[in-house]
Amino acid sequence: GTTLGASAAETGRYFGTAVSVGKLGDSTYVGILNREFNRVTAENEMKWDATEPSQGSFNYANGDRILNQAVGNGSRVRGHALAWHNQQPGWAQGMSGSALRNAMVNHITQVATHYRGRLYAWDVVNEAFADGNGGGRRDSNLQRTGNDWIEVAFRTARAADPGAKLCYNDYNTDGVNAKSTGIYNMVADFKARGVPIDCVGFQSHLTNSVPGDYQANLQRFANLGVDVQITELDISGSNQANVYASVVRSCMAVARCTGLTVWGIRDSDSWRTGQNPLLFDNNGNKKAAYTSTLNALNAG
Ligand code: G3I
Repeated sequence: GTTLGASAAETGRYFGTAVSVGKLGDSTYVGILNREFNRVTAENEMKWDATEPSQGSFNYANGDRILNQAVGNGSRVRGHALAWHNQQPGWAQGMSGSALRNAMVNHITQVATHYRGRLYAWDVVNEAFADGNGGGRRDSNLQRTGNDWIEVAFRTARAADPGAKLCYNDYNTDGVNAKSTGIYNMVADFKARGVPIDCVGFQSHLTNSVPGDYQANLQRFANLGVDVQITELDISGSNQANVYASVVRSCMAVARCTGLTVWGIRDSDSWRTGQNPLLFDNNGNKKAAYTSTLNALNAG
């Protein structure tokens, strides 16, 4: 293939990017988006603060713009994210107990119903595990509603949109470590008890290297019976092109690694200001990391 999306498709995979609604009027941005990518994640527009700015009042305008643009270009969309401790609307941030639990359930039901049948997957729960060596849950207002909040979120999403793949998504889970093992144990438990979960996303915000057990980590999750995806890939540092290729090769070596998504198009689109972690420069030119990524996709 001669584009990221077409090359990934040759092995049945996709290649996606995060999209920001504010850039859909930028012809350079949209030109690259439509040429290179066949999967899209809304960078902010489907999050809780964006979709339910006041309780019970929903706004899908920007999420719908991203979805319609993607569908018009033959791409599918990953919903991101239904339940997360971050980017909650102000009205939810101070809530607790059954009021917050009920608000979360209603939010998931409403948003997943709005997009029912139109998304290939949802990040149902994002970043619920703690960093460091404990392997446990992150403290948050959602966690304090009870340890079952994650399975309630997944069951609620399944009921609202039975056709969407339901994913857990997190960062610093790229190698075998305490945090990824905590998530692994949760997924194994969900599978054993019939809690609906279809996929695990590995954000892969990397700095100049990738853990040596990256592929093994993807594989151990796949062996539990879930698909895995690279969901927010960006890589800073002088070894960038080699590390991108290594990440692609790891995904290609895992049958259930169904695709990769980079977290933005040009370096100037990245949340990592000044780190130049993406595949296109500020002018939209292909970088060495683009070429190494394309070659690794074509080698599969
Ligand atoms: O929209 C407002 C704008 O009106 C205001 O003028 C401006 C002033 O700061 O802020 C704008 O909102 C910003 C928003 O991005 C849209 O640009 C927020 O401040 C800013 O915090 C927000 O950052 C996003 C971040 O998530 C928030 O947690 C990034 O764009 C987005 O790339 C990032 O994405 C996350 C994933 O969802 C989850 N994994 C980590 C990843 C990187 O942090």
